[in-house]
Amino acid sequence: MTIRSQEAGETLFSPFKIGEIAVANRVVMAPLTRNRATRGSDAPNALNVEYYRQRAGAGLIITEGTQVSQQGQGYVWTPGMYSQAQLAGWKAVTDAVHAEGGKIAAQLWHVGRVSHVSLQPGNAAPVGPSPIQAKTKTYIESGFAEVSTPRELALDEIPSIIGEFVAAAEIAKAAGFDGVELHGAHGYLIDQFLRDASNKRTDRYGGSIENRARFALEVVEAVSKVFGGGRVGIRISPVSPANDARDSDPQALFGHLVEKLSEAGIAFIHVVEGATRDDRNYLPFDYGALRTVFKGAYIANNLYTRELAIEAVENGAADAVAFGRLFIANPDLVERLRRDAPLNTPVVETFYGGDARGYTDYPALSDKAA
Ligand code: PHB
Repeated sequence: MTIRSQEAGETLFSPFKIGEIAVANRVVMAPLTRNRATRGSDAPNALNVEYYRQRAGAGLIITEGTQVSQQGQGYVWTPGMYSQAQLAGWKAVTDAVHAEGGKIAAQLWHVGRVSHVSLQPGNAAPVGPSPIQAKTKTYIESGFAEVSTPRELALDEIPSIIGEFVAAAEIAKAAGFDGVELHGAHGYLIDQFLRDASNKRTDRYGGSIENRARFALEVVEAVSKVFGGGRVGIRISPVSPANDARDSDPQALFGHLVEKLSEAGIAFIHVVEGATRDDRNYLPFDYGALRTVFKGAYIANNLYTRELAIEAVENGAADAVAFGRLFIANPDLVERLRRDAPLNTPVVETFYGGDARGYTDYPALSDKAA
């Protein structure tokens, strides 16, 4: 792996600047879908405020995916970033995190074809770059369901989807977020455009790697005008098969994309290494090549342990490391990692939907001492 030279003494617990976002440490809370927004409005509520407040010890929290429009929603009860009620709900979240001294970025999400007609406006088909159904499931009010076959986006619809990302970024800015992360991973809309198994377009958004990267780069450019590039990042998962994401040459595709992202001057790339939640070595891929080509911060993710994370920052393979499931179960994860204290075990049954159980009731170390 290519190692970038680091200032002496950088550790997982030392402060840093992710673009223009000054963070107290290099431990990032990964975006985590929890399906606990207010039913009906998909606005964040007091329970969501408490959940994020508890986790404000992270150097940077990246919120769960927030759909940029109802059409961009793929799962029931995920929070949105397109209405005034959602703005007000998010404002309470960012205020609480800031009051604890934390930083928080909103993840902007359009699921594209990974949706179900029951979640779509007018029960219409979801949209994608091409009319190819993904081999994956979503969950709707009645439980897990096969995703619906998408309708191909017309060329003249693409600017309006980019406009939805811009409008969502404006709401996120008004809600007090420190930045935004675009969800470019896991087979959702941006990733669907990137990959040749889901993008069969013959216009300027399909075909060559340059064309398939166009949508991602146009969204990045448009959102950067709202927040400034120093507060924008993107999450990518180059080899993850999540949601039927496949490509014939991920190394070339993501090499090109990241080179262009670097030229665009954004703050960070957040890289899911390997197969999501499964296997870090799922397919061979040279992440060091992305690290080398990108001028901004490299946030590494997927199945990191305390030891792997400490090593990755100290040897320069990453600037920061994002943890998902460990943050679900450990509100004070940074403190636990710092002290090498025991970790609570995440309970899978309460990941998606439900109430405070398995959400805001995981104990902090200080609770045990009390
Ligand atoms: C999920 O709901 O399990 C989920 C959502 C978004 C992701 C990954 C997983 O990027």
